Amino acid sequence: MNEDAGSMKRIFKNGAGAVVTKSIGIKANKGHPNPTIVELEHGFINAMGLPNPGIKDFKPEIKELKKNKIPVIGSIYGKNIDEFKFLSEKMQEYGADAVELNMSCPNVQGYGLEIGSDIDLVKKIIREIKKSTKIPIFVKLSPNVVNIVDIAKAAEKEGADAIVAINTVKAMKIDLDLKIPVLSNKIGGYSGPAIRPIGVRCVYEISKNIKIPVIGVGGINTGKDVVEYLMAGATAVEIGSAIYYRGIDAFNKIIMELEEWMIKNKIKKIDEIIGVSQR
Ligand code: DHB
Repeated sequence: MNEDAGSMKRIFKNGAGAVVTKSIGIKANKGHPNPTIVELEHGFINAMGLPNPGIKDFKPEIKELKKNKIPVIGSIYGKNIDEFKFLSEKMQEYGADAVELNMSCPNVQGYGLEIGSDIDLVKKIIREIKKSTKIPIFVKLSPNVVNIVDIAKAAEKEGADAIVAINTVKAMKIDLDLKIPVLSNKIGGYSGPAIRPIGVRCVYEISKNIKIPVIGVGGINTGKDVVEYLMAGATAVEIGSAIYYRGIDAFNKIIMELEEWMIKNKIKKIDEIIGVSQR
């Protein structure tokens, strides 16, 4: 077993309902040189540059996870319709339960955010994928656009099964002694608690305007943070940086806090709070 499947297994054992893979492309990619991630006061700034083994060599990772009956969401990135279509088909063939289209990584030219800001391209990619891929298609969007709602609506119209909001926020940190940006890529994406209000706003706006589920992500650290995303309209959440702040057991801790909050507030079913802030 390799390292990625191992860490995803640990996450699942510690309370996660499913795992999202790192974003996988057509070919192996080393990513940007170091430094690629730096901790700031209220989160992280990263420009990893989409490091990954390539879709072919990722097959054993998915197989290993599926052998353990772990629900897997395969994240993919491409530079055009053909790449996205090929990668979705491969994820399906390997046994992934859903595909997440990375249309929002701000760190590599020609990919991610550049695709996700072109509404016509977003539509064409989803339309083509839906012709040959039967597993659900999630579309992960960026807050670094003029109108995230328009893109979400377009994705829904073309048959996307869920929207994932948000990816990182474009940012920079400068080292005052060296007088240069700390990241080798200079600009990166900001994640962690600082971006939670941005994520909550995006989820609120998107879920008010579409019918497919919205998965909230960005700065979730506690059970109450989950409640906030659910009240904004999310029906599920993804968690990343909390693992750094609270350890691998972050998922179980967050679930316990969520349950405590529900008991204290006499909420019997999670459905009772989904989207309540919109009323
Ligand atoms: C990277 C950054 C992202 O925001 C993302 O969603 C995927 C990958 C990266 O730089 O590798």
